[in-house]
Amino acid sequence: MSVIFEDVTYIYNKDTPMEKRAIKDISLSISDGEFVVLSGKAGCGKSTLLQLMGGILGPTSGSITISSGAKIEARGGVGVVFQFPERQFFENSIYADLSFPLRRGGVSEEEIESRLISALKAVDMDFHAYRDRSPMELSSGEKRRAAIASVLVLDPQVIAMDEPLAGLDQKGKREIIQELKRLQKEAGKTVVMATQESEAVSGVCDRTFYLENGGLAATENSSLLPIPSLVNLLKKKGLDLGEGVMDAEEAFLRIRSMEKKAHEM
Ligand SMILES: Nc1ncnc2c1ncn2[C@@H]1O[C@H](COP(=O)(O)OP(=O)(O)O)[C@@H](O)[C@H]1O
Ligand SMILES: [Mg+2]
Repeated sequence: MSVIFEDVTYIYNKDTPMEKRAIKDISLSISDGEFVVLSGKAGCGKSTLLQLMGGILGPTSGSITISSGAKIEARGGVGVVFQFPERQFFENSIYADLSFPLRRGGVSEEEIESRLISALKAVDMDFHAYRDRSPMELSSGEKRRAAIASVLVLDPQVIAMDEPLAGLDQKGKREIIQELKRLQKEAGKTVVMATQESEAVSGVCDRTFYLENGGLAATENSSLLPIPSLVNLLKKKGLDLGEGVMDAEEAFLRIRSMEKKAHEM
């Protein structure tokens, strides 16, 4: 399922003294099955953009199209996992919490159980081990994975997550990134992740959109990361800078030290 923003602007508290233009004339498109990162400093508009994508907010102007070609989607379109997973839980067991929207939607108990089993499995949680646990007593990593599962039960084609890495240790971050990558690769989901830590996912995602002050400042295509591509090209031309050169500064330092060695010889 693809997501297309055309000249989207969003203004909080429009026509009041508190008016705030949080998203300014953004046009972008995310392809079906793509893994995209939204990055930028606090306040640049990431959360607002995700809420627009999920239909939680409507654009002040411009248009947002969520489409899957000619196919009509029977189930949910964009599922948003909010920044604070504890706010996503209302009930006192994982089972009650994850099944609530399904039961309200008239899904049968049998179908509910099978959807919970597969949604929890997708985030590496065993249904029987977790069904009666209270969401409140889970670790932060488990809470975040359960929050992903609470969106997966709705079977959205696009999964959007707000700051899923915040407050996790390195291991927890790696786990979340791997889960999202798996959902993209194995379940064919489109994944959108807002994070201030874009370096942590740059090797895994397809593209990164950098927001600045509500506008789209830059787009980076991961498969064409400029520095590693340049390093490869130089190597082919006979100038080998060695492994692990990821940024311009490191490339510069290695070239300088090669020059120095050449002079010493
Ligand atoms: N509910 C709100 N009411 C008014 N202004 C808001 C609201 N939510 C966010 N903003 C403002 O909109 C801008 C973008 O915020 P946000 O989308 O939360 O950015 P980010 O997620 O990148 O930190 C900020 O200036 C923020 O203060
Ligand atoms: Mg935010």
